[in-house]
Amino acid sequence: MLKRSPAALVAASLALAASCAVAQPAGKLKVGLMLPYTGTYAALGVAIENGFRLYASEQGGKLGGRELEFIKVDDESDPAKATDNVNKLIKRDNVDVIVGTVHSGVVAAMARAAKESGTMLIVPNAGAGVVTGPMCGPGIFRSSFSNWQPAYAMGEVAAKKGHKRVVTITHKYAAGDESVGGFKEAFEKGGGKVVKDLNLPFPNVEFQALLTEIASIKPDAVYTFFAGGAAVKFVKDYSAAGLKKAIPLYGAGFLTDGTLEAQGADADGLLTTLHYADGLNTPRDNAFRLAYVKAYKLQPDVYAVQGYDAAQILGVGLAGTKGDITKKAEFAAAVRKAKIDSPRGAFTLGANHNPVQDIYLRQVVGKENKTIGIASKALADPGKGCTMK
Ligand code: PHB
Repeated sequence: MLKRSPAALVAASLALAASCAVAQPAGKLKVGLMLPYTGTYAALGVAIENGFRLYASEQGGKLGGRELEFIKVDDESDPAKATDNVNKLIKRDNVDVIVGTVHSGVVAAMARAAKESGTMLIVPNAGAGVVTGPMCGPGIFRSSFSNWQPAYAMGEVAAKKGHKRVVTITHKYAAGDESVGGFKEAFEKGGGKVVKDLNLPFPNVEFQALLTEIASIKPDAVYTFFAGGAAVKFVKDYSAAGLKKAIPLYGAGFLTDGTLEAQGADADGLLTTLHYADGLNTPRDNAFRLAYVKAYKLQPDVYAVQGYDAAQILGVGLAGTKGDITKKAEFAAAVRKAKIDSPRGAFTLGANHNPVQDIYLRQVVGKENKTIGIASKALADPGKGCTMK
């Protein structure tokens, strides 16, 4: 038998200890939650965090064998503060992964900072095309949608209904512009015409002058993207202006998601398209909803689902690297081949790391966005400009 010197034995055992350390990273995984906790989108941020925490707690508080430590930043949905806010998480707190955010104007700065620093980013809402387009990257994933997806599906629905002249109305920023763009693409392909694009700066909710303009144009229908507090007010104002009875209002489903308690009868009957709906009645969704209500005494909405699925994506990636988030290529490979078992229905991520998913057509009945069919099956974002570098 080969004899080894004490020094060689010490070196060998140190090497073994080091390789064990790599195989199972020690310590908690630092998760930076960058979400809006104030302002128009505050309720969306809370629902995302709730969903994320629910999945983690169902896994015993661990993902990929790692306990989680949360560090939170309120981004206020303010693009001007986005770079400073994300750098708090990256540079000050040294987080392992960032989960955020809601607002498309904020997420663009996050994607840039995440890429420059090599920090993993999971986007649980913001639909900005740039994130899964020109700024896409091996360490950036989205658990939600692209702004184009629900909008494109609604453009097809509106064209099939035979509408010809439509007015659009939205906040003037990336999400509104891209949502209107997706709607217009499908609607005009189907033979319709968008005759006027109306908008106002985010987060302004003084809709009156624009509603008066809609009344004077008298289009066949109106398409809109509003969310959170702005969606509540828009639906109420549209109805109060007497337009609801006269001109059908269609929206990306954010218009009526997480908002129905506050909108009441003014939302009744509205048709929207989204990657989630009430009344799916699948065992997976029923179990999720039951667990969510039990944990938070609140009904879940699309944002809660997106938070839950952001945690699932993190879990899948970490399972593929035995908890080591620095193994980026293995993490991405595990997520890319996974089927995410979402309450919305199982989905995969496309080559640009955006969900390929069914878009439901929903109608508001009482306090629910009842599913009335699938508007677009397995719809993939085109991922224009994504080269995955
Ligand atoms: C966005 O800014 O991308 C955004 C915000 C709220 C939503 C959907 C999209 O509900």
